Amino acid sequence: MTFDLASILRPHILNLVPYSSARDEYTGKEGIFLDANENPYQSVNGQQWNRYPDPYQWAIKEKLASIKGVRPSQIFLGNGSDEPIDLLVRATCTPREDNILIMPPTYGMYQVSADINDVPIVKVPLTPDFQIDTEKVLAAVTPNTKIIWICSPNNPSGNLVKREAILTILTHFSGLVVVDEAYIDFAELPESLELSGSSTVSFTNELNNYPNLIVLQTFSKAWGLASLRLGMCFASEEIIKVLNKIKPPYNLSGATQAILLEALDFVETKNQLVKDILVERQRLAQELVVIPTVKHIYPSDANFLLVKFEKAKQLFDDLIEQKIIVRDRSKVTLCEDCLRITVGTSEENNVLLEALKKLSEQ
Ligand SMILES: Cc1ncc(COP(=O)(O)O)c(C=O)c1O
Repeated sequence: MTFDLASILRPHILNLVPYSSARDEYTGKEGIFLDANENPYQSVNGQQWNRYPDPYQWAIKEKLASIKGVRPSQIFLGNGSDEPIDLLVRATCTPREDNILIMPPTYGMYQVSADINDVPIVKVPLTPDFQIDTEKVLAAVTPNTKIIWICSPNNPSGNLVKREAILTILTHFSGLVVVDEAYIDFAELPESLELSGSSTVSFTNELNNYPNLIVLQTFSKAWGLASLRLGMCFASEEIIKVLNKIKPPYNLSGATQAILLEALDFVETKNQLVKDILVERQRLAQELVVIPTVKHIYPSDANFLLVKFEKAKQLFDDLIEQKIIVRDRSKVTLCEDCLRITVGTSEENNVLLEALKKLSEQ
């Protein structure tokens, strides 16, 4: 199916003349800068945050591009992944007219962003093993469906979505397909991909094959930078240009950019943290399985486990009383009696396991 970005965008976004910031109009580094009404001396705390930051974060994108195997122009950075999620809805969906398609149970912000923008939602639940029902999804698409959201590894179920299903949707749907890979660092490379010579499980390596593909990742999970609010969006240069056109001019602060630029030197540390979390994930699963109130532990490719309990809601409340906070997903589609448990530190997991054992004896 042919993809035509111009027909996916809202007409006024296609024709929008974006704000042109001082840093857009003069991109040189040297000079006497009297163009942005900044304080020329310093910041009140004696530091140097008095100048506006690079609106496009090029230094970061250069470094990140080589880590991710993409071009700098294929990267958009946002204030968390939530920023590109919202921008994508606003760029493509005319309120009350166009729709997005989601597959519950999934990450809540796709729906919330659509709701905020008064954009209708088409829902096609995942199968009971949390995979995509491609036939049903493609049958549910309407001429006004602009975005299909796929979360892989999926939140809250934790599993990777089958690659073939995503490729089928990319091929047969002429709108945007967003693959949200917030938890991708925790997913191991399947043997089939390894055999085909791929070094990553991420869909970023399909960007040059599918002009309608958008991949979201985040620095909030494996990289341990949740507080900085940093989301990554990878797509064609054409799509990234649209996001740049409609974002607030300086959407990432100078402080955030400085910290991230340095953090990107620590890929090995990130990999080690992932390894540590995966060891704990496995141990947590092994110890949970023998607790009598645990009914099922879903396989996870993420840094959390979806666990089915006897009387999950009561258990959730009992844990809260002990100041152990997990996520109650028991009212969510296909997740009846399920709690979502983030893999904590070894000590935190021990406290949780002890509490669960005691509660199961009552
Ligand atoms: C699937 C998924 N996407 C995106 C996010 C948001 O990430 P960020 O912190 O980058 O906004 C989350 C957060 O939990 C998530 O689970």
